[in-house]
Amino acid sequence: MVLIIMMMVLLNIVKSELHYVGGDKTSWGPKVNLTEWSSHEHFHLDDWLYFGYDRHMFNVLEVNKTSYENCIDTGFIKNISRGAGRDVFQLKEMKTYYFLTGGGYCWQGMKVAVDVTDGVDGPASSPSPGNAAPAPSPTSDASGIQFNQILLLFIFALMWGVSSNYISY
Ligand SMILES: *[C@@H]1O[C@H](CO)[C@@H](O)[C@H](O)[C@H]1NC(C)=O
Ligand SMILES: *[C@@H]1O[C@H](CO)[C@@H](O)[C@H](O)[C@H]1NC(C)=O
Ligand SMILES: *[C@@H]1O[C@H](CO)[C@@H](O)[C@H](O)[C@H]1NC(C)=O
Repeated sequence: MVLIIMMMVLLNIVKSELHYVGGDKTSWGPKVNLTEWSSHEHFHLDDWLYFGYDRHMFNVLEVNKTSYENCIDTGFIKNISRGAGRDVFQLKEMKTYYFLTGGGYCWQGMKVAVDVTDGVDGPASSPSPGNAAPAPSPTSDASGIQFNQILLLFIFALMWGVSSNYISY
């Protein structure tokens, strides 16, 4: 039973990717061209975003399209910031999500639009030849794999712990 549940959890985790917004664990900031970054990524349903930043200066707010375009930080949809400068957000809908940092930083480029496509890579989710985007960068793929591997290790450690408990009793 435990094994079945773990396999289900595992399958669910493996199919969702973690995207470090801006490219790495501390790149939610004004020095990164987030539009550029986002255009090279492929976001799928159930993928996760990771916002890493200086918690004393910035925050992350989910806003609507109008607010994103005009850098409006009032009346936001959701406050993603939890206070540690390391926030995660799961993409649960097939739509374009908009995020920005309040307090004027949006004008310095601290905003990103994330376009979620279907769950699988394939011709349906490929960009049209007219505005063909380059393939996802190896770094973003690598970070996704790394995240999954850590979780795999964690789960195997957990399973090992469970089985060794059975042996000792
Ligand atoms: C960021 O990248 C986008 C897309 O490549 C480009 O259009 C834009 O001018 C860049 N912005 C800055 C501030 O360099
Ligand atoms: C977007 O949010 C702003 C700020 O709350 C609000 O004034 C505006 O009406 C919203 N626009 C849409 C299209 O929902
Ligand atoms: C968002 O939530 C964090 C943590 O609860 C809080 O410290 C921060 O002030 C909030 N930001 C806004 C703009 O409401």
